[in-house]
Amino acid sequence: MTTSPLPAFPPGFLWGASASAFQTEGAADAEGKGPSGWDAFAAQGRIKDGADASRGTGFHERYREDVALLAGLGADAFRFSVSWPRVIPGGSGPVNSRGLDFYDRLVDELCAHGITPAPTLYHWDTPLPLDEAGGWLRRETAQRFAEYAAVVADRLADRVPMWITINEPAEVILLGYALGEHAPGKQLLFDALPAAHHQLLAHGLAVQALRAAGADNIGLAVSHSPVRTAGTSDEDRFGAELYDTLTNWMFADPILTGAYPDEDFATLMPGPVAEDLAVISAPLDWYGVNYYQPMLVGAPATDALDDFAGIAMPAELPFGIRRLESEQRTAFDWAVVPDGLRELLVGLRDRFGDRLPPIHITENGCSYDGIDDQRRIAFLDGHLRALHRAIDAGVDVRGYFTWSLTDNIEWVEGASQRFGLVHIDYDTLERTPKASYAWYRDAIAAQRAGSGN
Ligand code: BGC
Repeated sequence: MTTSPLPAFPPGFLWGASASAFQTEGAADAEGKGPSGWDAFAAQGRIKDGADASRGTGFHERYREDVALLAGLGADAFRFSVSWPRVIPGGSGPVNSRGLDFYDRLVDELCAHGITPAPTLYHWDTPLPLDEAGGWLRRETAQRFAEYAAVVADRLADRVPMWITINEPAEVILLGYALGEHAPGKQLLFDALPAAHHQLLAHGLAVQALRAAGADNIGLAVSHSPVRTAGTSDEDRFGAELYDTLTNWMFADPILTGAYPDEDFATLMPGPVAEDLAVISAPLDWYGVNYYQPMLVGAPATDALDDFAGIAMPAELPFGIRRLESEQRTAFDWAVVPDGLRELLVGLRDRFGDRLPPIHITENGCSYDGIDDQRRIAFLDGHLRALHRAIDAGVDVRGYFTWSLTDNIEWVEGASQRFGLVHIDYDTLERTPKASYAWYRDAIAAQRAGSGN
């Protein structure tokens, strides 16, 4: 697909790609790594086709190939994640220096190619012993996370100029603790709220620990989706507003304003909430946004329409998620709505004003099959244009990390949903750049030529 050139992004804009440890590394018990809650979840057969992530994309062995692919793209930065159970297998206690050595090698390889390493410290793979003790339902887990953050920063902060504490806390809570569709498989519905508070606290304590260890340029990656109301009844409006609050604002508000979106939430949270909020809202250098699609939400539905990415929603929940119609859909059946990215960014700016730090898009991408992935090109082109419109509207966006560099293990969907610019043959682990890889490479090159960078 030939697309007309993208409008020029601001000078110094960071072009990148994202990935995560559980989804790519494999080597699940190599070099002293301990199991994560996700390894245990996979062992229970919870991933499609009984798959697990023990091989992943082979990134642990093949990271040099993937760094070469990033270099071939002309990427400025790579967002990967550090596996907590690779570094501290027990979740607390001894540090596995061989685990840290892997990230040392990876960071060196990236730096040798002039690519900024941007590690995420938590992309969902909690060390199993912590999960078994209650995971994010326990306040201690936040403390353990901060200790782990300090260990990683001690080793890498001399070469890592950009840090991400936590990825998508809302998904961890909703899917992992409320609905039980992700590890650790708990179905607590609203009793999952304490886990949200502890994850927020973990973020705040990790920011402190990172800064104390000399790390700088710290943000996190939060998913945001514009919420549309399905229907016109009071129940529809209530359902949509509650869903919006739970998924868009329950994490953003405490981090950016020091308050929960609704006083009622604060009263449901454990611990010295006011003191915790002061830690949680410590200033960030930037704020990361992951965007995939808007959500259509209303009153609980009584029929099969009521699902969330194929997940049945329990009838006790006061909201229901409907299928949002759109002309284009991804292989995951997600709606393709590029302008939703502009809409949500302008919405963040309007809601938070001066409290909103500069933004990086830390994830945006789509699942499609095939190597001649023209629909991924159209998706990226459309979303980058929408992003440019947000910048034109005055939103300070500094970078874009597409999800994902390579196909990878899409959580419970296993290898069945492919988000990569690079195809993975899961039998041979051979990497084949797709048409979208060449498109993104050319788009980055054109931006550079245009800005003289
Ligand atoms: C997650 C990724 C995931 C992607 C696509 C985000 O929720 O951070 O790990 O692969 O979306 O589902």
